Amino acid sequence: MADSRKLGFGPIAAPAGGVLVVFADDGVKLGPKTKRLLGSAADLVARAAKSERFTGKSGSTLDIVAPDGLKATRLIVIGTGKADDRKPSDLVKLGGVVQGRVPSSATEVTVVLELGNGAVKAEGAADMALGASMRAYTFDRYKTKRKDGDEGPSKGRMTLAVADVAAARKAWGVKQAVLEGVVLARDLVNEPPNVLYPVEFARRAAQLRKLGVGVEILDVKAMRKLGMGALLGVGQGSTQESRIAIMRWNGGKKGTPPLAFIGKGVCFDTGGISIKPAANMEDMKGDMAGAACVVGLMHALAGRKAKVNAIGAIGLVENMPDGNAQRPGDIVTSMSGQTIEIINTDAEGRLVLADVVHYVNTRFRPKFMIDLATLTGAIIVALGQDYAGMFANDDKLSEQLTKAGLETGERVWRMPLGPEYDKLIDSKFADMKNTGGRSGGSITAAQFIGRFVGKTPWAHLDIAGTGFASGSSDINRSWGSGWGVRLLDRLVAEEYES
Ligand code: BES
Ligand code: MN
Ligand code: ZN
Repeated sequence: MADSRKLGFGPIAAPAGGVLVVFADDGVKLGPKTKRLLGSAADLVARAAKSERFTGKSGSTLDIVAPDGLKATRLIVIGTGKADDRKPSDLVKLGGVVQGRVPSSATEVTVVLELGNGAVKAEGAADMALGASMRAYTFDRYKTKRKDGDEGPSKGRMTLAVADVAAARKAWGVKQAVLEGVVLARDLVNEPPNVLYPVEFARRAAQLRKLGVGVEILDVKAMRKLGMGALLGVGQGSTQESRIAIMRWNGGKKGTPPLAFIGKGVCFDTGGISIKPAANMEDMKGDMAGAACVVGLMHALAGRKAKVNAIGAIGLVENMPDGNAQRPGDIVTSMSGQTIEIINTDAEGRLVLADVVHYVNTRFRPKFMIDLATLTGAIIVALGQDYAGMFANDDKLSEQLTKAGLETGERVWRMPLGPEYDKLIDSKFADMKNTGGRSGGSITAAQFIGRFVGKTPWAHLDIAGTGFASGSSDINRSWGSGWGVRLLDRLVAEEYES
């Protein structure tokens, strides 16, 4: 990110050179300011559109080199489709599209932030800047050479031309904190598992202290004392010690109960003794995407000095097969006192969450708890990669998350909970077992966590499909998505800040 194109805001005026980007709605409709700025080149756009059959369809582009009547060396017209109500997520995406269409060799880029139906407002301009920056993110710290044809890091400057520069800068100042949170979350997910093991992950979380976040680390001894047999059982086959990191941001009124965000941080999931097949096992370095999101979110909240009290808690373990690893058939005692029969050592995420959820609930008495976990392959079968599975014991929290999801584009789809599913995890030998069989696999996993939640409003987000991407999108070319940071930041900003 360090050497990517610098982003700033400026007034709407014809640039003295470089690449000029403008937008056209359906029917090649240009905004009034855009038309004026293009002058005689507006005609050129109309003619070029006709010969190229460019209609302004969303995502399409018209590229004009050395446009007559303009000082710009290149004019790129990006189609924005229908003008009716654009969600914040549409503008984030559009920012990503712009970044993707501008050649990385361009040093000066001016983007006129006006759509067919008028100038983009400050908040929207910040959303576009966010999308453009997210698209520019790359993770190449382990590459020592560049291959022929690889897009190099984009250099130079991108100026977003807006009606009110000061207002756009102010909105961007806030949104930049969210960007930093997303970048941090992506970095963590993309890091290899030999670098990012539990102790190192905890150290990275502790770096949030620089932003005024209080960070506490629980080591194995402390967890033993608390009786966290479920979490410790998962980590006992690894030479890497388990940790819990607890982050506190106190930006709200003193004494008001905190919001709690809890993340699954399995730094590598081999499956343990119930070992996974070799194909794609390397993806299991991303089995800490829930924890990465929580750290990214805490970074965002602190960075923008959110007026809220929030706790982030992450359970960090490595799930390995070993002479000391836990076995199918073992019975462990969780911090809550409930006993668990291990059926499959690959159903480890719920064991980690059981203890962290119980700990957070009893220690902090939070207003709500939201956990994020790459928990089940079954949720990918059910929802693919475009929605996270959401399970909730509280309709209000569920509705708020659904709404924030639609606005940010990090969408959630509610799945059922109920006693019919709960009984599938009763055990012959202990209070419960850690798997409920193939059918309803994501639901029984959620029911399992639910047994450690008590009466606190709670939502569980199964992000196995959304935490890392199989292909690239308008706003992400890397693997780790940083999914959830924007969703939860928005939930906090809209519903819970004083
Ligand atoms: N980390 C996996 C789930 C996963 C799979 C996340 C693919 C991302 C991509 C989880 O720990 C797991 O192994 N779940 C098992 C549960 C089963 C043993 C009950 C699964 O989904 O197969
Ligand atoms: Mn597993
Ligand atoms: Zn896992």
